[in-house]
Amino acid sequence: MKFFADTADTAAIQDLEDSGLLDGVTTNPSIIAKSGANFLERIAEIAKICKGPVSAEVAATDFDTMMKEADKLAAIADNIVVKLPLTEDGLKVCKKLSDKNVMTNVTLCFSAGQALLAAKAGATYISPFVGRLDDISHDGLQLIEDIVTIYDNYGFETEVLVASVRHPMHIIDAAKIGADVMTCPPSVIKQLYKHPLTDKGLAAFVDDWAKTGQSIL
Ligand code: G3P
Repeated sequence: MKFFADTADTAAIQDLEDSGLLDGVTTNPSIIAKSGANFLERIAEIAKICKGPVSAEVAATDFDTMMKEADKLAAIADNIVVKLPLTEDGLKVCKKLSDKNVMTNVTLCFSAGQALLAAKAGATYISPFVGRLDDISHDGLQLIEDIVTIYDNYGFETEVLVASVRHPMHIIDAAKIGADVMTCPPSVIKQLYKHPLTDKGLAAFVDDWAKTGQSIL
């Protein structure tokens, strides 16, 4: 499973890159607004830090303007992935970009039918939002399972990029299903390290080693 960081925080991205855990970055207009940064400058910065794919989302919703924005975003760096909304115009742009080998991430996916359309449009990634479905008492992970099944049935190459990930169990359950990628805030990745028995066991090892009076170095 590839781990993408869902953030525009360059310090957090660098930290994950240094840990060897960073496979990519995703952003969206809300994340950019929250960062207070200049969008195009920040995406260029992120694309230098992260060696993997960096998703940058168009702001427009009409075909012509999305096409122009997509070309500008794709020109920032070779690892830019153009993020597009799952709408009729968004998938028309996706098809055009796919035909000229520009990487695409179709976002705001909430149904298997939408995911099927995105795969047929040649999307590089599909981003189903599990957290937002859970928020309204729908089973977000069931959507992931449905999409993985459909894509496997027909050999679609579109990668399932699980988004709106709120906690470690979303990551673990998506990995059990076989999703290709997950994206989440860096803090959620950090939560995967934690287990009280690990902390307790390490403390005991340290204490018992100290009692030996020995040193390895
Ligand atoms: O990439 C999509 C993700 O940022 C949405 O997350 O928590 O706003 O549903 P959330």
